[in-house]
Amino acid sequence: MQMNPVDPHLFVIFGATGDLTKRKLIPSIFRVLTEDGALAAHNLLGVSRTDLSDQEFRDLTNAALHDAGHDGALVEEWCKDRVFYEPTPKSSTDFADLKARIEKIEADLGLPGNRVFYLALPPGAFPSVIEQLGDAGLAEGPGWTRLVVEKPFGHDLGTAHELNQHVHDHFDEHQVYRIDHYLGKETVQNLLAFRFANLLFESAWNRDRVEAIEITVAESLGTEGRAGYYDRSGVLRDMVQNHITQLLSLVAMEAPNEFEADAIRSEKVDVLKAISPIAASDVVYGQYEAGVVGDHAVPGYRDDPEVAADSKTPTYMAMRLEIANWRWEGVPVFVRTGKRLPHKTTQIAVTFRRPPVCIFHGVKDDCATHQNVVIITLQPNEGFELRFDVKAPGSPLQLVSQGLHFDYAEAFQSLPDAYQTLILDVMEGDQTLFVRSDEVETSWALYTPLLEADIEVLPYAAGTWGPDGVAEKLGLPGDWVMRPV
Ligand code: BG6
Repeated sequence: MQMNPVDPHLFVIFGATGDLTKRKLIPSIFRVLTEDGALAAHNLLGVSRTDLSDQEFRDLTNAALHDAGHDGALVEEWCKDRVFYEPTPKSSTDFADLKARIEKIEADLGLPGNRVFYLALPPGAFPSVIEQLGDAGLAEGPGWTRLVVEKPFGHDLGTAHELNQHVHDHFDEHQVYRIDHYLGKETVQNLLAFRFANLLFESAWNRDRVEAIEITVAESLGTEGRAGYYDRSGVLRDMVQNHITQLLSLVAMEAPNEFEADAIRSEKVDVLKAISPIAASDVVYGQYEAGVVGDHAVPGYRDDPEVAADSKTPTYMAMRLEIANWRWEGVPVFVRTGKRLPHKTTQIAVTFRRPPVCIFHGVKDDCATHQNVVIITLQPNEGFELRFDVKAPGSPLQLVSQGLHFDYAEAFQSLPDAYQTLILDVMEGDQTLFVRSDEVETSWALYTPLLEADIEVLPYAAGTWGPDGVAEKLGLPGDWVMRPV
């Protein structure tokens, strides 16, 4: 990865003993350090309620790096010299001790006072930590100060708005980095390059040429030990309001005037604002029952001890929506996502209209041309496919659909982890891949009426593509378009 040198800073993680810190944040920070090469620029302070010494946290950091495949002299040196820990007092709400510790580390290491505060915490803890940072005078420091907030950002429009106000009571929007890890995926970012660096596609990317857009985000896993959280959230909050809405806005937005954070984010907000209210009748919810995924028999959602036996939390959602603007008026967008589907894949399919007049009368299957489709696979096997008709050799004349393929793995070997990309952007002060306050509220405004609506939750067997009859119910022109995984 090519990068500019990172400013020396202290990276403060709240929730330092949690799973996210261990699995994603520590390895990502270390990989950025490795690319950057400047050990002294990367300093980590773990903060959490657990009573640990510096040495115990260094051991945890070392183990996290080992699990992520990093060992050796640089790991040892970084952990010994650049990793620290400060427990937050259990009863006090005062961050004076934390502030003193930060200042001492900075003085000892000769740091200029640049700080990242990363909230890898349960959402209920966001407001109090933000407030305590503000009250302790930590929202502004001698250098730059950045606040990173993990998802979920709010639970609905009201709570997201409240949280935004709370953040803005203490921090300026230019300091705030709301994470959606989908935006860190290379292939998601590549949607911008694909659309705005290639005139060929962009000139056909509109209601004159496109018949429908489909977005599929399928997961084969279930709730994986997170059922307690999931049962309070459900698929709309967990996947649709954030990740899928990001994909949708990147696919449908207008071209920004420049490749710059606010220009891009403003276009994303604009297209979200153009989405017509989604009727409850254009939504299908499902919840998985026991079934077979791959070769494994798996239990149903409600079989999890953390889930109530009568839970109505949806684990699958499909919907149809319309974007009422000049580019997209009349083009339906179909979205589906769910847990315990046959396999993991994220794909966007853009299906183009048929030629206005068919001249192939008399061919086999009279005039049965296939439609052009662009399928963008975001994971796994990242790549593109363009389907088009060719004449099969011989006679009688017959048209068959063929594909042009591009595969990331063939062209570029490995792709960086989403968190590594996002953490580097935080360190470099680039907000392009982070969700702006108006963006998060516009998205919640779209879905909050659905959260309040009474929508039936249909059963589906684990290992199937969701409840029966979804395509017909939503008025999909045919079956869902998928590139085989
Ligand atoms: C998370 C959701 O944000 O995204 C999980 O909370 C989901 O439920 C995950 O499994 C999917 O992310 P990815 O990167 O594996 O597609």
